[in-house]
Amino acid sequence: QAAPFAPAATERSVDEITGGRRLRRMRKADWSRRLVQENRLTVDDLIWPLFLIEGENREEPVAAMPGVSRYSVDLAVKQAERMARLGIPAIATFPNIDQARRDETGSHSLDADNLINRATRAIKAAVPEIGIITDVALDPFTSHGHDGILRDGEIVNDETVSQIAAAAVGQAIAGADIIAPSDMMDGRVGAIRDALDNHGFQHVAIMSYATKFASAFYGPYREAIGTGGLLKGDKKTYYLDPANTDEALREAEQDLAEGADMLMVKPGLPYLDIVRRLKDSFAMPTFAYQVSGEYSMIKAAATNGWIDGEKAMMESLLAFKRAGCDGILTYFAPEVAERL
Ligand code: PBG
Repeated sequence: QAAPFAPAATERSVDEITGGRRLRRMRKADWSRRLVQENRLTVDDLIWPLFLIEGENREEPVAAMPGVSRYSVDLAVKQAERMARLGIPAIATFPNIDQARRDETGSHSLDADNLINRATRAIKAAVPEIGIITDVALDPFTSHGHDGILRDGEIVNDETVSQIAAAAVGQAIAGADIIAPSDMMDGRVGAIRDALDNHGFQHVAIMSYATKFASAFYGPYREAIGTGGLLKGDKKTYYLDPANTDEALREAEQDLAEGADMLMVKPGLPYLDIVRRLKDSFAMPTFAYQVSGEYSMIKAAATNGWIDGEKAMMESLLAFKRAGCDGILTYFAPEVAERL
């Protein structure tokens, strides 16, 4: 008995349909696939985010990020040495500040001897060849987990900007090569540029988290730096709405006008359309941050045997290159570098 909806066979041959253009020809063998491959991931594309804790000889695994730990400064130096050996060009440091040091305004961000600055000095001294990128947002230092100063229920922009600019100078004095503001306050890139230049740090670059979205994918990171339980409310008054792309373009344009040397999109994989748009619009060094939640999703599915973790890792990173990224901040950096 014939199936009631059996499709009618076409009368045309495949050669008639395709006009003889058979796109599978170049995919037939490994050598031809390699020959026509358009994008490639190399170790030079990788930036490794590194979590810091106080103390000595301490390595503390981050529960929500299998394979990722927080390191005391002495062990962070060892990790930086390992990354340099692997050929990874740069690391980005994020401190887990003791709760007792956190306050309403994040004042400890201005301390020349805070965890992030001590780590920068130690790493610079031991591994001068690796680039150090420091985040200058206030969230690791505030008692409420917001990136800025909280007053009467509001994140106050201008005061936050002056403090961030001052903290950036402190980070540059410690030896940071690139200052990366992730707070999304208005005017912070220009203020940081002025502050750096006024203190003789013309050579220190700014990588702007130009388009940082109010995302659910930051969860594991907040556990890593200990802000998860603290955060009151959300960050929607300063991070971008995930629904918007024109606004992202305006943010990037503004940051470039204020003096940003490099642009970053964050999160990564769900926002590759933004990467492509920024790259095409501005032709600037463009980076993406494959954030904690993206990393943990791949790890969790792999641990459960639902996906091949290594293949998913490589594919996700290649996707960043295809979208136009010059580099990727990724927790996979050492794992990938070992494979490459
Ligand atoms: C905040 C900051 C965030 C990340 C780095 N710095 C987001 C947040 O906590 O709101 C996220 C990084 C990640 O998820 O891997 N300035």
